[in-house]
Amino acid sequence: MAKVYVTCRVVADEIERLRSAGHDVEMRDVSGPIAASELLENVESADGLICLLSDRIDADLIAHAPQLKIIANLGVGYDNIDVSAAHAAGIAVTNTPGALTETTADLTFALLLSAARRIVEADGFVRAGQFLGWELVQPHLGFDLHKKTLGIVGMGRIGTAVARRGHCGFDMNILYHNRGRNVSAEEELDAARVPFESLLEQSDFICVHTPLTEETRHLFDVKAFRRMKDTAILVNVARGPVVDESALVWALKAGEIAGAGIDVYEHEPKINPELLELKERVVLAPHIGSGTVATRRALARIAVDNVLLVLAGRPPGTPVA
Ligand code: GLV
Repeated sequence: MAKVYVTCRVVADEIERLRSAGHDVEMRDVSGPIAASELLENVESADGLICLLSDRIDADLIAHAPQLKIIANLGVGYDNIDVSAAHAAGIAVTNTPGALTETTADLTFALLLSAARRIVEADGFVRAGQFLGWELVQPHLGFDLHKKTLGIVGMGRIGTAVARRGHCGFDMNILYHNRGRNVSAEEELDAARVPFESLLEQSDFICVHTPLTEETRHLFDVKAFRRMKDTAILVNVARGPVVDESALVWALKAGEIAGAGIDVYEHEPKINPELLELKERVVLAPHIGSGTVATRRALARIAVDNVLLVLAGRPPGTPVA
């Protein structure tokens, strides 16, 4: 009987699929980050692991998991896993590409609109009984999205889905920065590939969709914020460390940029206390890019499919290369 360790709560019917295939499943039924020692203890005897992007799966952990055959990450990003160490140990690594593309693009637009139109501030104002009637110049006047320039950093699946929403739904002008060209986005969405510096200077809204790598860590630093328009709004739904969080706080306070919609944090789940204090055109979400009932279910289904395949001696459906 193979043992599968699951580091977080997963819907019961997916756990049942593993059990009815004859596997012994242990699921951590607690919220909050798992301690490294608890993870190590459970992975030591596991054949399969279903884990979160906040679980650190490093070379040391892998060295202590002699039976492990698959690491199935619940999410598209896998910067939490030492993939080379896993592959060197003959362990498959899988993610959930595709499943969360449209859901994350929706959230990106929710953050863009919330920050630009100051929805959270306006909601607080109404609930506090401060709404005294329509006025021409009233509190919480915002910025338009339509016909503005949307800069996309990382034009992969999610970046393209955001560009489509911007182009088709809001008549926005699309700029992008990416390692390679995205010809279909250029042809279908009239997107223009530009150097990072030009994107910073020309965009009214900038969305971050790039994976976290050594090249993208702190891509948004003081220098980058200085180049942005002082009316610009930054949205990050990718990975926290792509943005230097103290530089972001500085840029918002200094008026280098006008606002931000943030779903991911540099030291998640810790958040810079000064960022928490900033409310004007700043909207903060708790890493819910893929957070719909249907999409989170799909992530669990894909991870379980991969584990079932690998434990049956077959290649996984969505391997990380
Ligand atoms: C979420 O952040 C993911 O990588 O899927």
